[in-house]
Amino acid sequence: MRPKHGWLTAVVTLTLGGGVLVASLGGCAGCEPTNQYYEPTQPIPFSHALHAGATKIQCQYCHYGAEQSRHAGIPAPSVCMNCHTEVRTDSPEVAKIRQAVETNKPIEWVRVHRVPDHVYFSHEPHVTAAVPCERCHGPVAEMTVVSQWASLTMGFCLDCHRTAPAEFLGDTTSTPLQMRGGALTDCAVCHH
Ligand code: HEC
Ligand code: HEC
Ligand code: HEC
Ligand code: HEC
Ligand code: HEC
Repeated sequence: MRPKHGWLTAVVTLTLGGGVLVASLGGCAGCEPTNQYYEPTQPIPFSHALHAGATKIQCQYCHYGAEQSRHAGIPAPSVCMNCHTEVRTDSPEVAKIRQAVETNKPIEWVRVHRVPDHVYFSHEPHVTAAVPCERCHGPVAEMTVVSQWASLTMGFCLDCHRTAPAEFLGDTTSTPLQMRGGALTDCAVCHH
């Protein structure tokens, strides 16, 4: 689980604000509850720069859930072994993957991105509309360690939902309000 940042934001604001009191620790009004730049240390130093960058493995080779479901998914260690039965078998890090497969225990990857429970997000409509991964995750293929590149605030989502009909759906005549019998900006799209 990742740390709840409401606390952190409140503490930082308190410190920087030189004693100005923050209304509430839980829901700091006016502060965006964002985990931008969160970059946890992973149990195996898996590098996207090496795999998606230098080796040019497609994102969806590993994150194959993205096209059909809510979650993109993290690949099981057996997917890694498609290559690592041959590649770098001498590496102690690769030994950890092999051990995970042999003992049938998952690798405990630390989750980087997460929207709050009251927000509905699914990869499927985005990948279907050909929104590039990079628009929400940044230049992952250049990252040695994945970090949360975007703020993932409501404003971040809405900025694109306002222009998405023209940019991604080839619809330059309808306003967002006329889309899909409702708007991509309707509250109910993201808050069920
Ligand atoms: C060889 C498999 C593989 C490929 C190819 C790959 N990834 Fe990953 N990805 C992983 C693994 C394993 C993790 C979990 C460890 C980590 O966060 O680094 C991960 C984590 C992520 C995360 C963070 C997930 C979270 O916890 O929030 C994002 C975002 C991501 N990948 C996007 C991409 C994108 C975009 C591409 C293509 C440019 C890509 N990945 C290519 C294996 C892969
Ligand atoms: C399509 C092939 C392929 C897949 C799938 C793959 N890798 Fe790799 N991996 C490579 C290549 C190629 C290298 C670089 C080898 C070298 O150093 O020349 C590498 C290197 C690594 C290294 C660095 C080893 C070291 O000690 O320097 C780690 C760690 C690693 N991979 C982990 C993973 C994990 C975890 C997965 C599954 C999520 C995975 N790999 C999936 C091809 C792959
Ligand atoms: C429109 C924005 C957007 C796009 C495009 C997008 N993602 Fe995500 N991604 C997110 C958000 C938001 C989360 C956190 C979702 C949650 O908390 O359920 C996330 C989470 C993830 C995760 C970790 C949790 C999970 O869903 O399994 C991975 C891995 C990931 N994305 C990979 C990708 C890949 C690969 C692509 C491209 C094929 C992609 N994403 C495209 C916004 C996006
Ligand atoms: C870069 C542009 C972009 C960003 C950023 C983006 N979206 Fe989207 N979103 C789209 C597009 C394009 C569609 C597809 C609409 C369609 O097919 O009609 C979509 C569709 C959706 C849908 C499905 C709507 C429906 O009625 O089927 C949901 C839910 C959604 N987005 C939530 C989010 C959330 C939550 C975020 C922020 C975490 C977000 N989106 C960020 C472009 C974006
Ligand atoms: C495209 C997706 C999207 C749409 C549409 C959307 N929201 Fe949100 N909303 C989010 C996301 C993501 C968050 C969580 C991040 C944040 O608080 O900025 C959020 C958070 C919130 C919060 C909690 C703020 C807090 O401080 O915790 C409220 C209240 C809210 N939205 C109300 C609304 C209302 C009212 C509408 C319609 C006018 C709406 N939202 C439309 C994505 C959306």
